[in-house]
Amino acid sequence: MHWTNAAAMLVMITSGWGIYDDDVVIEGFHFPQYLRLGDWAAPSLNFHFAGMWLLAINGLFYFGYGLFTGRLRERLLPIRLHDLIHTINDTLHFRIAHEDITTYNAVQKILYIVVILAAISQVVTGFAMWKPVQLAGLVWLLGGFQSARIIHFTGMSVIVGFLVVHVALSVLVPSTLWAMLTGGPRVRLRPASPTPPPSPELPRAS
Ligand code: HEM
Repeated sequence: MHWTNAAAMLVMITSGWGIYDDDVVIEGFHFPQYLRLGDWAAPSLNFHFAGMWLLAINGLFYFGYGLFTGRLRERLLPIRLHDLIHTINDTLHFRIAHEDITTYNAVQKILYIVVILAAISQVVTGFAMWKPVQLAGLVWLLGGFQSARIIHFTGMSVIVGFLVVHVALSVLVPSTLWAMLTGGPRVRLRPASPTPPPSPELPRAS
């Protein structure tokens, strides 16, 4: 699901940049042609709508699995202030070794939650712009078509910002990248039953 999502995101980002370039949100800011999927807005929109199915269906499986098994809650919560300060301090001192790759630190948890919310926002604002007549109520809730566009563009910027950090960190801690390719170590979903305390050492017979 991770790699399907990566492929779908790549299509959505680069085709989105193709759509953007036809009628820019930020005056004077364009994406170069070699970064855009599609020659101009119409083919870019076609790529965008094709990628949308992959993204949305894969996302449904991901959330269905994550919620049903409790994986999402177990891996992303709780976030403790103490852990957050500890991780930030370690990172500022370039201590980013990640011994147990089956548990996330507080910063990872926050970043993953932010990017998941951004992806959900992309789907909601995207559907609003795709069917603005049928989903007029949603467009109204988002503050109108142009406002939905700006939220959509901001969501893309959050996701691209996340990707830059995410890819850089996975290169710095390659064991995570390897695990993501091979399936990685088994993740324990349920807490193990408490281990009995070690038995006291018996006095040696002299
Ligand atoms: C189900 C998911 C999605 C749907 C239905 C959707 C739909 C749309 C539509 C209809 C437009 C054209 C808006 C217009 O006419 O101006 C658009 C633009 C765009 N989309 Fe998406 N989108 C989705 C997901 C994404 C994702 C995941 C990204 C990137 C991470 C993305 C990035 C963009 C960008 C950059 C634009 C151009 C913004 C603009 O100038 O209007 N979209 N999208």
